[in-house]
Amino acid sequence: MPLIIANLKCNPSTLREARRLFISLKKGLGNIRKAQVVVCPPFLYIPELIKIFGRAGKIKFGAQDCFWEKEGAFTGEVSPLSLKSIGVSFVILGHSERRINFAESDEMINKKLKAALSVGLLPILCVGETKKERREGRTFQVLKKELRVGLKGVSAKNASKIILAYEPIWAIGSGKPCELNEIIVEVLSIRKIIAALYRKKVAREVKVVYGGSIDAENISKYSTDSNLQGFLIGGASLNSREFMKIVGTIVKKNSDFNF
Ligand code: PGA
Repeated sequence: MPLIIANLKCNPSTLREARRLFISLKKGLGNIRKAQVVVCPPFLYIPELIKIFGRAGKIKFGAQDCFWEKEGAFTGEVSPLSLKSIGVSFVILGHSERRINFAESDEMINKKLKAALSVGLLPILCVGETKKERREGRTFQVLKKELRVGLKGVSAKNASKIILAYEPIWAIGSGKPCELNEIIVEVLSIRKIIAALYRKKVAREVKVVYGGSIDAENISKYSTDSNLQGFLIGGASLNSREFMKIVGTIVKKNSDFNF
């Protein structure tokens, strides 16, 4: 089953609009069986999302970040345990928008990742290069560092549960997605790095998804490679019709994916 993750980022700006979006998604995707859909709204809307979809349904819930401590004097932070306790199962970590805007380092991401795993949240670890790094032929080195430091101290058993999101920074929100053949090359690099950090079995088992400017128009070009277990959709997940179209296309083309 393909894995399709909706990253709503800091949208929509009111609860009313969020509710409208969730109700519409529930109508279209509430009973979906052929894909694992994970919706990651802003923290504040998670309880509303869970209320609308129901905890026992097919859709899973995700957060876009979490802190590395479970509790304490950390003003403004959100505990992974709090997320788990309200019904969240996934957490996006190391998104480039957090790395860039909030100076998140690989070391910080590693601490968050271990904290998330320790409470039973499944991390979606984002990795990817800038345009400049790609131009300079440094993509492999960037991926290697982000994975090596990001996964430091994580057991092979836990590593095989993690979802890795290949998100080239230049492709995010740019309207210019990475070409499928380039994605395949980078996904192979990711698996090679994981094989070197752990063993081949982990590299085979780890789920890799792609994110960056996927929309209802271009998705059909992207859903044919079985090396890729799914997609992380940003902007296009804010429009329920468009998101449902993307999910429909992926399901049609990838019913043999295993998640
Ligand atoms: P995008 O975002 O689909 O809007 O490019 C993807 C992401 O940031 O995860």
